[in-house]
Amino acid sequence: MCGIFGISGKIAVSSVDLCIAGLKKLEYRGYDSSGIALLNEGQIEIVKSCGKVESLEKRVLHLKDLKAVSIAHTRWATHGGVVEVNAHPHIDNEKNLALVHNGIIENFYELKLYLKKNGVQFLSDTDTEVIAHLFSHFYDSNLLNTLKRVHEKLIGSFAVACIHKDHPNTLIVTKRDKPLILALDQQKGQIIVTSDRNALYEGEFQTVDLEDNQIALINENTLQLYDQNGLITPLQFTPLFVKNTSHDKGEFSHFMLKEIHEQPHAIRRTLEGRYDLENGQILLNLPKNFKEFFPKVSKIALIGCGTSYHAACIIAHFIEEFVRIPAQAHIASEFRYKEGLTDESTLVIGISQSGETADTIGALREAKRQKAKIFCITNVQHSSIIRESDFHLMTQAGPEISVCSTKAFTSQLLLLYLLTLEFYQMKHGFLDQGNTWIQNLRTLPSLIESVLQKKSLIQEIAKQTCQFDKVLFIGRQYMFYTALESSLKLKEISYIFSLCYPAGELKHGPLALVDENTLTIALLGHAPTFQKTCSNVQEIQARKGKIFAIAQKNQNLEEISPDFAFKIDVSIAQPLLPILYSVVLQLYAFYVALEKGHDIDHPKNLAKSVTVE
Ligand code: AGP
Repeated sequence: MCGIFGISGKIAVSSVDLCIAGLKKLEYRGYDSSGIALLNEGQIEIVKSCGKVESLEKRVLHLKDLKAVSIAHTRWATHGGVVEVNAHPHIDNEKNLALVHNGIIENFYELKLYLKKNGVQFLSDTDTEVIAHLFSHFYDSNLLNTLKRVHEKLIGSFAVACIHKDHPNTLIVTKRDKPLILALDQQKGQIIVTSDRNALYEGEFQTVDLEDNQIALINENTLQLYDQNGLITPLQFTPLFVKNTSHDKGEFSHFMLKEIHEQPHAIRRTLEGRYDLENGQILLNLPKNFKEFFPKVSKIALIGCGTSYHAACIIAHFIEEFVRIPAQAHIASEFRYKEGLTDESTLVIGISQSGETADTIGALREAKRQKAKIFCITNVQHSSIIRESDFHLMTQAGPEISVCSTKAFTSQLLLLYLLTLEFYQMKHGFLDQGNTWIQNLRTLPSLIESVLQKKSLIQEIAKQTCQFDKVLFIGRQYMFYTALESSLKLKEISYIFSLCYPAGELKHGPLALVDENTLTIALLGHAPTFQKTCSNVQEIQARKGKIFAIAQKNQNLEEISPDFAFKIDVSIAQPLLPILYSVVLQLYAFYVALEKGHDIDHPKNLAKSVTVE
């Protein structure tokens, strides 16, 4: 997803170096081009490049000595292809200003027609360029007045940073529905503007998260915040100490493999301090007002996208089965248009690793409008989703760099298991078999490690099956939802058309897809439906379909004698099995993609944080 980095204030070092370093820290979000603009002796200098930030770096060497107000951007293409002219920053026809933008301008086409009628020449296919020309069109030498007028014309979501050659040391920024952070480095006197805290260099900052429609004017003497009517708004700083976390792969070939192996540690950290083993209690320290609200909850809606939606599916099932409160998982982009039954007695749980997914944030805003209480689970401190929520809990998975989510998913599940157990505790005043549940959760890290130790077995199966281009995933109950997630893993890094169905559903249509060229991955972990799922496997085998079965050690597979099998030697509560089965199939997807030689950490067309709808 797109990323913004800008610098103003008393600039102490090369602004180009700072911008390039900031863009490199934003690479994990996914992008396809980048660019920088700055003011040099009264002129706008602008350099753009398709591909990696390092190709941009090679093209700005001549600007490295400057300490000038600068804006920089990584672009993930929405409107217009991946070509240099579509990269940001964008300029007006007279090259008086340059501007970068995150988000989507929904009325860009009407505005483009209006501007063309007024003689504007467009260079790119982007919606962003419209903002640059609109700024120029309304410019009356007062940046604040101009941006206010531009603001009023825009429909859609945006975070914008702009420089103008009449105001050589000034950066003007605004936002709506997209994050934009001001970070004041008091020691150096520099002021950074960014869409993502991860872009900041190591140091101590006073930060301000801009609210929607606010405008900030920044130069070497001022940092001024205005509301949408142009009235000065007091700055409320939050201190932030940035420690450079080493985003390196260590001994691993890929971030995804590293993060798969970090899952035991991530689970331990997410679990730490959140239970009392002696008294068999969960200790999430939920706020008093949540505990007062909870008895009024009549239903629970869990909302997410992609992998986070799959976590929602597993936990909705567990809540209904264990706490006996109606619970449903919703795809965020669907929820927000659904005239559902959300009301003041609904608890909405938003799940998002990045905390910036536009669809999820949009759905939570809609739920809030319908008077629901919002609880979010996220992995990123200070992320936008927290500001949308009444309550929140953090997973402790650490930064997840690979686009393909692994440790964040299993950490989400762990935290949501704890939350569900605490719901039971609040409802009944105690946690039935609390010690057993806590012991089960505490063994998860070592059980994951035992799966990881058998990764060569999984790699061998991947080598023998990577040629299949039709792969079905089947399961029942918890195993079906786990299969949904595992199928997504395979899709997004191996690019194989993989489908997932409840095992009992095959004979109602999908079985027509099965032949000797089909591989079916059968998740057999749900004991109560093991026999039935074996029958489904035999229906597939009767049509010459190949089988890769994942089962528990005590489950006898002789009846189906699968072509490939992996046994998980554990005895653990059924609802917790999705974590272990997911690790097996994360590794499987990784090794299949490795056989295919794909760019596993940066899969084609995908981004780490999808901040557009
Ligand atoms: C996961 O492997 C995918 N990269 C993707 O589906 C992701 O889970 C989804 O975009 C939601 O992201 P979030 O958890 O940051 O909201």
